[in-house]
Amino acid sequence: MQVNAIAFDRFRYPEDDTAQGRIRAAREKLGQRAVILAHHYQRPDVYVQADLTGDSLRLSRLAGETDAEYIVFCGVHFMAEVADILSRPGQIAILPDLNAGCSMADMANLSKVERAWRELAEVLDPDVAITPVTYINSAADLKAFCGEHGGIVCTSSNASRIMEWSFSRREKVLFFPDQHLGRWSGHKMGIRLEDMPVWDPDEPLGGLSPEAIRKARVLLWKGHCSVHQMFQPVHIQRWRAQHPDGFVISHPECGFEVCRLSDYVGSTETIIRTIRDAPDNTKWLVGTELNLVNRIAEEFRPQGKLIQFMAPTVCMCSTMARIDPPHLAWALENLAEGQVVNRIKVPEPEARLARIALERMLEVS
Ligand code: 13P
Ligand code: SF4
Repeated sequence: MQVNAIAFDRFRYPEDDTAQGRIRAAREKLGQRAVILAHHYQRPDVYVQADLTGDSLRLSRLAGETDAEYIVFCGVHFMAEVADILSRPGQIAILPDLNAGCSMADMANLSKVERAWRELAEVLDPDVAITPVTYINSAADLKAFCGEHGGIVCTSSNASRIMEWSFSRREKVLFFPDQHLGRWSGHKMGIRLEDMPVWDPDEPLGGLSPEAIRKARVLLWKGHCSVHQMFQPVHIQRWRAQHPDGFVISHPECGFEVCRLSDYVGSTETIIRTIRDAPDNTKWLVGTELNLVNRIAEEFRPQGKLIQFMAPTVCMCSTMARIDPPHLAWALENLAEGQVVNRIKVPEPEARLARIALERMLEVS
């Protein structure tokens, strides 16, 4: 195996319609040696090439179960890191475009979380009083932090169960980086909003008083998803006025009011399953990324289901969309030639600690 530092060349691999054919040819050469995993938000011209699809929880499980030598991840950076951490020795995780990041994941980093932990230690003993919970949408070193400090990872489909696990061990939770998922999950457990203050990592002591910290049950990191913040209560109110018999379903990364006004709240996998299992001729307003909504609108149209996107503007995960057919073709062609490009490798001991937090999550879910 040769790991190579070759960079993708826009001039040699322009956006063209030969990419699909090149992907198919490279895949034929690679056979069972490569598996393509794609998240539900992936653009249609890449999604169509996937062997396996899912939400973050399902994809992490699948990454740990595949036997392929190359796990080609059509998602974002943190997802490929999870694939690397949970894969077996000898397996290689590839992200076809290294620029495919997650803006929410970037809202927390290790130095800020470590500073928060140090500052919290001025008020209480965090290793006794607080379970750190990181959303899977975070860098591997934050998962390692949780592994080291008795914490855990969660996804949008298991956050409530993970919260219960966390409270069974310690009296408080520090939840990062998505305040909305943390708030919604805490609310579902019956925790009052005033007991879940926002921790602003750019303010001393998170912008909170020592008393507020002592009183808090969940400290919510000040982070959010730029896509899901576009959905607003007014979009739901307008839809309800036009379709009083319609249903509203949202992803828990949406703001609290959007979740509260929705009939259902759940992960991408839950959204798809709920609409698939619903009776024919039902109407749905969906608060999540556009590629997914367009795909299910098409898929369930024959059942007479009307599926509408929640926002009037285009809300796409533009970073995930960086994984386009030319990048996928380039990565696969290099693999077929024996050259590994864009490998995602989490170094030890970070990977070992992150694995602890991920395995705790997989066990609890
Ligand atoms: P899911 O785990 O629900 O697929 O969510 C991942 C994500 O990044 C949503 O923005
Ligand atoms: Fe990250 Fe938001 Fe994209 Fe999900 S939709 S991967 S949270 S930027």
